[in-house]
Amino acid sequence: MSGHLDLRATELDLEHAGTDLRSRFVLPDGVTYLDGNSLGALPVGVEGAVRDAVVRQWGHDLVDSWNTHAWWDAPARVGEVVARIVGAAPGQVVVGDTTSLRWYQVLHAAAAMRPGRRLVLADPASFPTDLYVLSGVAAQVGWTVELVPPDDAPRYLAKRDVDVAAVAYSHVDYRTGRVWDLPGVTVAAHDAGALALWDLCHSAGALPVRLDDAGVDLAVGCGYKYLNGGPGAPAFVYVASRHLGSFENPVRGWHGHAEPFAMAPEYAPAADVTRARTGTPHILSLVALEAALRVFEGVDVASVRARSLSLTRFLRDALEDLVPGVDVTSPADDAQRGSQVAVRHEAAYGIVRALHARGVVADFRTPDVVRLGVAAPYLTHADMLHAVRQLVEVLEGREHLDPAYAVRAKVT
Ligand SMILES: Cc1ncc(COP(=O)(O)O)c(C=O)c1O
Repeated sequence: MSGHLDLRATELDLEHAGTDLRSRFVLPDGVTYLDGNSLGALPVGVEGAVRDAVVRQWGHDLVDSWNTHAWWDAPARVGEVVARIVGAAPGQVVVGDTTSLRWYQVLHAAAAMRPGRRLVLADPASFPTDLYVLSGVAAQVGWTVELVPPDDAPRYLAKRDVDVAAVAYSHVDYRTGRVWDLPGVTVAAHDAGALALWDLCHSAGALPVRLDDAGVDLAVGCGYKYLNGGPGAPAFVYVASRHLGSFENPVRGWHGHAEPFAMAPEYAPAADVTRARTGTPHILSLVALEAALRVFEGVDVASVRARSLSLTRFLRDALEDLVPGVDVTSPADDAQRGSQVAVRHEAAYGIVRALHARGVVADFRTPDVVRLGVAAPYLTHADMLHAVRQLVEVLEGREHLDPAYAVRAKVT
């Protein structure tokens, strides 16, 4: 009945064979992993790198490793690798801490760079941590938060141009996978004298970001989704070089000091991007992230994007062909679709659990979204079709209505 889709999947997988990086990952047999937008899969080199860091570096070389294994420099060194992936020239990215902490830092720094301006724009559909952290910073610096979706921002900014200190948006909506116009909103912010701050959690490693070209001021992102750095991987922060001198770190930890080992009683920030550092970095996690990023060696993010678009396009088409009445909320337009396909359904949670029982790992986002994350390096068009067929069987067999799925796990 749907044999044409098998043929198409085979053709597309042949066409895109050059960007199939599955051999660079460890994935369990029998699992179709559509949750790389939550926790990326395990890259092959990570286990050995972490073992070496534990056994030889920590276990044998002990405290010398801060120098001999360059632990101290890891945040900036790994930052340079991330910089290439997000379109930043060297010297503007450091890695460490969490996205939430990094967001706190860039919001505070932005407020200090735009004294006297009292508004900040944020998307009401932002990932909650972004809004929570923003509300705390706003209370501290005296900002009023205006909830304006990113596509309305240019119009809003044109009207309120003297008041807006910053726009604080996500590049890709975490629920729908909608890609916002990062360059356009950044220009509109600048025209209004405001700064442009972006959360790249759902775009770093999935699509070209081109931070420098777009003139972005400050940005953050996590290491555990499309960068595959592992659970709790360190986050990153980007400070455009023109702002380095005025970037005031609200968390004045000693690792951001110009001379940490001078042990001076006064804080004096480092001249370079390491002024964004805080305290002692999570070295084991940094080692894991650094090893994970080798997946991108010799890989152009544009080629990852081309593969991802083909996969998500095919996934959308297969859903629409095979699942009667399916409600796909991710944009049909390639330019507006990130690396996931979201489906709305009133029994979304049951669907995610029933798919999981069949070896298809996706995730649920309240209130009614099944997120099918498509981490292009390790997925194929055949995987897309397999997932859709499993969904058809779940729905036909009413497996998603199993009472066992009425109770939600702690992490959905
Ligand atoms: C857009 C976005 N920002 C932030 C976070 C999480 O922040 P943290 O790394 O501090 O947990 C997520 C997590 O999924 C996210 O999707």
